[in-house]
Amino acid sequence: MNNRVEIFDTTLRDGEQSPGASMDDRQKIEIALQLERLGVDIIEAGFPIASEQEFESVRRVAKTVKGPRIAALARAVRPDIERAAQAIEKANRPVLHTFIATSAIHMEHKLKMTPDQVVENAAGAVTLAKGLIGRVEFSCEDSTRSDLNFLIRVSQAAIDAGADVINLPDTVGYTTPDEMEKMFRTVIGGVKNAAHVVFSTHNHNDLGLAVANALAALRGGARQIECTINGIGERAGNTALDEVVMAIKTRHDVHPYETGIVSTELMNTSKLLSNVTGLVVPHNKPIVGRNAFAHEAGIHQHGMIANHSTYEIMTPESIGRSKSELVLGKHSGRAGLAKRCEELGFKLASDEISQLYEKFIQLADRKKEIFDDDLRVLLMSMHDASFEVYQLDQVLTSGRNPSMAMVQLRKGGETLVDTAIGDGPVDAAIKAIERIVGCSGTLDEFSIRAATPGRDALGEANVIVLFERRPFTGTGATTDIIEAAVLAYLNALNKYLALKGDKGRLAEPKEQLKGI
Ligand code: KIV
Ligand code: ZN
Repeated sequence: MNNRVEIFDTTLRDGEQSPGASMDDRQKIEIALQLERLGVDIIEAGFPIASEQEFESVRRVAKTVKGPRIAALARAVRPDIERAAQAIEKANRPVLHTFIATSAIHMEHKLKMTPDQVVENAAGAVTLAKGLIGRVEFSCEDSTRSDLNFLIRVSQAAIDAGADVINLPDTVGYTTPDEMEKMFRTVIGGVKNAAHVVFSTHNHNDLGLAVANALAALRGGARQIECTINGIGERAGNTALDEVVMAIKTRHDVHPYETGIVSTELMNTSKLLSNVTGLVVPHNKPIVGRNAFAHEAGIHQHGMIANHSTYEIMTPESIGRSKSELVLGKHSGRAGLAKRCEELGFKLASDEISQLYEKFIQLADRKKEIFDDDLRVLLMSMHDASFEVYQLDQVLTSGRNPSMAMVQLRKGGETLVDTAIGDGPVDAAIKAIERIVGCSGTLDEFSIRAATPGRDALGEANVIVLFERRPFTGTGATTDIIEAAVLAYLNALNKYLALKGDKGRLAEPKEQLKGI
């Protein structure tokens, strides 16, 4: 059997369903271009029927990103399928991904359809999709809680109707590796023409088994893994791309498969996503977490000095973590700066380099050593500034309990100033912002950490703010931690305002959240 495993990245679709992970068009393109550099085979760009904005962003990804196949999701109904087909018509190699639930619990309570109706619907949807787009993937939602004989029946109907890929998702993260392997063996063994179809695995991490289940699916015959960067996704997330790829690479003796992933781009991709979404990667996350290659215990350090392989099963370089992350100092020139940005995955136009250089010199005046993470923060703040409604000019605080803050914001050419008293400087500054902007949110989560080493480190603040009871993430980083907190709050507020647009309030949650 062919051992090439296709990597189907669904960060921009299932990943974006994580609370607080919504991305705008420009950010989605940025992520998609990085996924292309990472070497993924398929990018699932979104769920076009969900909203006009979602349709546009899928269309833009399909027009811009030409290496990987571009997939769009559609429920097994005509309006979804036609809209998805329209969104990806400009892609080089489009994939239409349609799905319907096959478990008794979903058919009875959610779809209110009989098994016969589901089979008929699946076949009809694939036939329609195949008439519009050359490659069609069909998913049996909640496969792992579906009856195996019924899964064979639905999969066969989809294959007969022209499906090229059959995906058997563990939608609720319920199954175990043994059950997963058995499900794939049984379905692949039970359908006719299995050899003409790619079988795909898509797992959620509710029990922490998503990666193990994906590897078990490969043993059962799957040859496509659906996964996300940093494992983001609905509830506990999806299979983490970096983990499953490095498990294959590091334990090739037990997982004898090949992927097209350029593993040295894993770290850049992880950082880019967490900067864009504000979703912080846990320090102890395998592969890309801050501590994944840190050795604290003396006995481990001793072993590491003697030979790295005593405590390291893969090298940091193999995933693109450079040993020396010190990049530039005050005397570095524009060319050095541009080159390092390119190595980090940011291709900048010359006016952008000039803009960045100015910020870089300002930072170098406050901070002796500039690290890769400093540079990433500068790049992201530069990008963010281009779409933010309100920008921070300055924040001044005094006193502790209570504290007073004076905030000066800019909106277009207008300067807006107000003061407020609060429970500590951050609270006072947020109140001043709310007085200026005229709307308020609830600070749900708030953390501050040093983004880079040293006493003059950039302080990075991460917040989750609830506006209209919906979560918006925000990040901000400067050498002053109160300013960083205010920037983070403003970042979340700007995302909310951008999503709300001219409408008085947010639109209803995406259709997709109701449908899946
Ligand atoms: O988890 C799931 O079942 C899905 C499908 C739409 C593939 O995301
Ligand atoms: Zn999913």
